[in-house]
Amino acid sequence: MIEINLLKLNFHNKEFSHVRDIRESVFHRELGISKKDLFDEQDETCDHFLIFDGKQIVGSVRMRSIKKIIKLERMAILKDFRTKNYGKNCILQLKEYYSKIGYSKIILDSIYSVRNFYKKCDFIEEGEVFQRVGIDHIRMTLTF
Ligand SMILES: CC(C)(COP(=O)(O)OP(=O)(O)OC[C@H]1O[C@@H](n2cnc3c(N)ncnc32)[C@H](O)[C@@H]1OP(=O)(O)O)[C@@H](O)C(=O)NCCC(=O)NCCS
Repeated sequence: MIEINLLKLNFHNKEFSHVRDIRESVFHRELGISKKDLFDEQDETCDHFLIFDGKQIVGSVRMRSIKKIIKLERMAILKDFRTKNYGKNCILQLKEYYSKIGYSKIILDSIYSVRNFYKKCDFIEEGEVFQRVGIDHIRMTLTF
């Protein structure tokens, strides 16, 4: 599998500006999500990760701890770097990292049309389709 590196950061690190750029590019300009929905107060307490392919930044994701469960949110691989297994590799690394620090379950709310990506990462669908920011979503879980 292709190698990627993850840089863990928080909201106050200067590198958070890259997370801003990626969310604007993917969620606002590409998916049409309103700018006001790109960031929220949870950003201040989440773990954030920049995804590197060895040379450049290819994406970002945030991980939010909710009691004993970790929730994966705002996962984005920049358009030019998709379908190279960066997303899947990132999730594998996150799973390993959070497993080592005591978590045994990752949950996420997948945009419905990309749920098969998460299935390839061993997540399973749970519950009903629901709407958020005008887009169909479904809860998915991975237990390890
Ligand atoms: C969804 C996303 C994170 C996937 O990242 P990626 O790096 O392109 O995915 P990978 O290359 O690691 O793909 C892993 C597998 O999932 C499949 N896959 C990737 N994107 C998919 C999609 N949108 N639908 C169905 N399958 C998909 C790949 O074909 C690959 O299959 P394989 O293992 O059989 O080869 C990326 O397309 C993205 O950022 N999209 C826009 C933002 C978004 O929708 N984020 C998710 C919010 S819930």
